Amino acid sequence: MEIPKVPGLPIIGHSIPFQRNALNFTAEKQKKYGDIFQMSLLNENFIVLLTPEITKEVFLDKDDNFSSKEGWAVILGPTFENGLMLRDFDDHKYHRTLLQDSFRHDAIHNYLSIIQPIIDTWVESIKTITTFNLYESIKQLMFDISLSLFFLDVKNDESQKLNNLFMDSIASATSAVRWPLPFTQLKKGLKAREYLLDYFESKSQMIDEESKKTLFAELVNTNKGDAGLSNHEIAEHMIFLLLAAHDTTTITLTNSIYNLSKNPDFLNDLRQEASEVDPLDISSLKNGNFAESIFQEAIRYYPPVPFSVRRVMRDTKIGGYNVDGGTYLTISPLLLHHDERYWDNPSVFDPYRFIDPTYTNKAYFPFAGGAHTCIGKFFASYMFKNVIYKYVQNVEQPSIDKSLNIRPTPIPHPIEDVKVTI
Ligand code: HEM
Repeated sequence: MEIPKVPGLPIIGHSIPFQRNALNFTAEKQKKYGDIFQMSLLNENFIVLLTPEITKEVFLDKDDNFSSKEGWAVILGPTFENGLMLRDFDDHKYHRTLLQDSFRHDAIHNYLSIIQPIIDTWVESIKTITTFNLYESIKQLMFDISLSLFFLDVKNDESQKLNNLFMDSIASATSAVRWPLPFTQLKKGLKAREYLLDYFESKSQMIDEESKKTLFAELVNTNKGDAGLSNHEIAEHMIFLLLAAHDTTTITLTNSIYNLSKNPDFLNDLRQEASEVDPLDISSLKNGNFAESIFQEAIRYYPPVPFSVRRVMRDTKIGGYNVDGGTYLTISPLLLHHDERYWDNPSVFDPYRFIDPTYTNKAYFPFAGGAHTCIGKFFASYMFKNVIYKYVQNVEQPSIDKSLNIRPTPIPHPIEDVKVTI
């Protein structure tokens, strides 16, 4: 039996309608062809798998059948080559174990202390200007946070340059042209990668016992002679970590602050909770149940990684179909999170669906699963809570000028920014 194939144009396939509205386009095809079908994106044929059971099977990958490295290389390579998600199996396990150490509780505690003054400055600045572009402001905040955690003693004139390089590398991952031709985003991204590799390699030699306990310093400390990572490998991980940490948290905060402004009840409940939680104490942050519910709902509604990709390593069977080695697969938290078979009113933003901390849903995969489960998921939640608590404690009655219209791929981003007045 053949997997149904959605007819499309030569070369560009379905890339254009998919890029315009991936959720509606894919859901429409799902209605017509079922939960498993093929479509063509970025000049590759992808099998689309839209059931929770198969999604779990692919993420868990018990038999090492599915390559994250080769799947993600279609989108993130070569700018993010050798980042953690672009490694597989034993090699991935070795690197992940070393990186995991930088996400210990005491390390995260240090990161939260480092970012406090940056969040304070952001809140003071929005209170002064009173009207601000939501996404732009959060993006800058998250970049300033990244500067403090990922770089070393950045001078003012250096920060703009790093910001531009960082944006170039992200843009290259999401650009449609996949050949590094002159003037393309990919070419710019590769140039940015070269600069950032040099930056991280040279700065890692300057980190010592006295250095601030940033994520960069923690990673450099894994480099213990022959047993650790080389400075070059650390630099490659840093470039990927910048990508993984930045746009994911930016869109989650944007979506949450937007919904808080629309719902005075959410705002009141959160303000009450903010007064009871110590933002630097991880056990206290864990008790921040309503903020956690908002976080979980924000990443249900717009999962920052809306589609995951894998390449099949050898001939295998999926969902009753024979699939050849070399085939590309995509699984989609975005589609599952909006599927009415698994959620009541999925198009309504309702944090209370997560209010019972024991609630689980088999169609919920914001952080993927298995060996590549997001390594920063707890840190992301604590960082989110630190920002959102500070925001509600300092802002009286925010109002928003219009609806927030988000394009969910490649990483969710507003089609047009909204203005918040506080
Ligand atoms: C709301 C915030 C975030 C979400 C929803 C998110 C989601 C994800 C997902 C879905 C994956 C796996 C994709 C796949 O397997 O195909 C992933 C991987 C990863 N994430 Fe996150 N992420 C977030 C924030 C962060 C932060 C703050 C960091 C680091 C500071 C981070 C670091 C990573 C890394 C290093 C990987 C690769 C893990 C591996 O391959 O072993 N993420 N993330």
